[in-house]
Amino acid sequence: MSNSAAETILNAVVNRRTIYSLTPELPAGVTIFDVKHAVQTIVKEIPTAFNGQSNRAVILTGAPHKKLWDTVANSIGSDAGKKRPISARDEAYGTVLFFTDDKTTADLQAQFASFADAFPVFATHSSGGAQMMAWTTLEAMGLGGHLQHYNGLVKNGLPEEVNAEGWTAHSQLVFGKPAVPAGEKTYIENDVTIYN
Ligand SMILES: Cc1cc2nc3c(=O)[nH]c(=O)nc-3n(C[C@H](O)[C@H](O)[C@H](O)COP(=O)(O)O)c2cc1C
Repeated sequence: MSNSAAETILNAVVNRRTIYSLTPELPAGVTIFDVKHAVQTIVKEIPTAFNGQSNRAVILTGAPHKKLWDTVANSIGSDAGKKRPISARDEAYGTVLFFTDDKTTADLQAQFASFADAFPVFATHSSGGAQMMAWTTLEAMGLGGHLQHYNGLVKNGLPEEVNAEGWTAHSQLVFGKPAVPAGEKTYIENDVTIYN
């Protein structure tokens, strides 16, 4: 491909992988403010249905990050089920939590009644776009991460100042310094065909 900006984006897409094995630090030269800048830009710019701006995100690190995952682990009965939240608590540097604002969705449903069923789905689509873009960007910054879905449990572990009552939780991007490279990944044959 001759367009190097496009090639850079595609390389970042290819390099985004699930990395569970993390250490609780940031790579040299990266600060938590760089992470915030990336997530803030993505939440602002990722498109939303009717430009409703439904995406919300919170970044936790330090004690709030540990409290979140402690709360999740303590809400799960089995030792096997606690394993991932405990590893997030002890091995990761932080977590980006993705939400969508329910009032934004409800307002759009009221305004465009014939699309009412579509708006929660659209909010989920846009959140997915933000999640993938953040995951890709953090990995391009030299971080490693994995995506979790303890959506029914995370609100109890948030700092008190976070008013997430009117938000729907979508995912948690756990990040830190990669301890090992991503493992092997298998792919299906899945050609995209041009018909002309
Ligand atoms: C929508 C979505 C949901 C996922 N949910 C989880 C999850 O809850 N827990 C988890 O450990 N990994 C989760 N993953 C990670 C996938 O298992 C992983 O992306 C997939 O196996 C491909 O591997 P890769 O990320 O290294 O490319 C999720 C990924 C996506 C895209």
